Amino acid sequence: MLTTSNTEGGGIASLPIGIASEDPEQVDAARQLAHQLSLPLLNPPLDRSTIALVLNAQRLEIRHPELGSPLFIDFVKGAMGYRRRRGEGRQQPLARAIGLKGGACPDVLDATAGLGRDAFVLASLGCQVLLVEQSPIVRALLDDGLERARQAPETAPVATRMTSIQANAIDWMAKLSAQDLPEVVYLDPMYPERTKSALVKKEMRLLRALVGKSENVFLLLEGALKCARQRVVVKRPRLASPVAGLKPDFAIESKNTRFDVYLTRKRSKTP
Ligand SMILES: C[S@@+](CC[C@H](N)C(=O)[O-])C[C@H]1O[C@@H](n2cnc3c(N)ncnc32)[C@H](O)[C@@H]1O
Repeated sequence: MLTTSNTEGGGIASLPIGIASEDPEQVDAARQLAHQLSLPLLNPPLDRSTIALVLNAQRLEIRHPELGSPLFIDFVKGAMGYRRRRGEGRQQPLARAIGLKGGACPDVLDATAGLGRDAFVLASLGCQVLLVEQSPIVRALLDDGLERARQAPETAPVATRMTSIQANAIDWMAKLSAQDLPEVVYLDPMYPERTKSALVKKEMRLLRALVGKSENVFLLLEGALKCARQRVVVKRPRLASPVAGLKPDFAIESKNTRFDVYLTRKRSKTP
């Protein structure tokens, strides 16, 4: 049985994961998803011994008593909906780091898609975003959130600019042919606790439990630098050192975060 891959954080780490549905009409779909993800089908009632991916008519969510309320991806309402309505625009640090100056709308390969929040921000500013996520479970949650976003009139135009795939981005980037190289590669690797926000903490704790820390950040950066036609952007905690000590061309800081920007166009011209 698949278990969470990480031993950090105690609690839910190392628990087995399964799929369940409490809705008789969704049991077949749950069985299919269990087969697709090679996870066992669990019978409700769910208990503390398992992390459950629960499929109901509304959504796919992840549950465990320690997580409090269930976790699911919601681009329409919640924090993402608020961010979209507030329309932080092209002046926000992420947008500036990606290079959204004036009318520029580069296509972005988000090589560490996770819960898709940064990708959604970029897509809402007009970028086409390919989201690459290594974890099949996280990708299933992501696709569920994207599907609901495609069905809501207020988010459909944004969601249609987002495509997700499940792959190790290091391998994926290495196989891209010249005509498919993205203008920008965005990396947001998992790093130790970086914010005190309870919500983010809970989500990040779950992500860490599901996928572990990113052990391959250097390889991700190396692959990204080879394949981005314009730039690579790496999200870091504000005070952390750059990945592998590789100094960026410039950085854009916000309160807790720093975006390190590596200009690959400039690099490829220098001998
Ligand atoms: C911190 S999360 C990204 C959060 C995301 N930026 C967001 O806004 O929701 C990091 C994610 O990168 C994924 N990841 C790490 N290494 C990867 C790789 N080599 N290929 C694909 N995904 C990877 C992890 O599985 C995890 O889901």
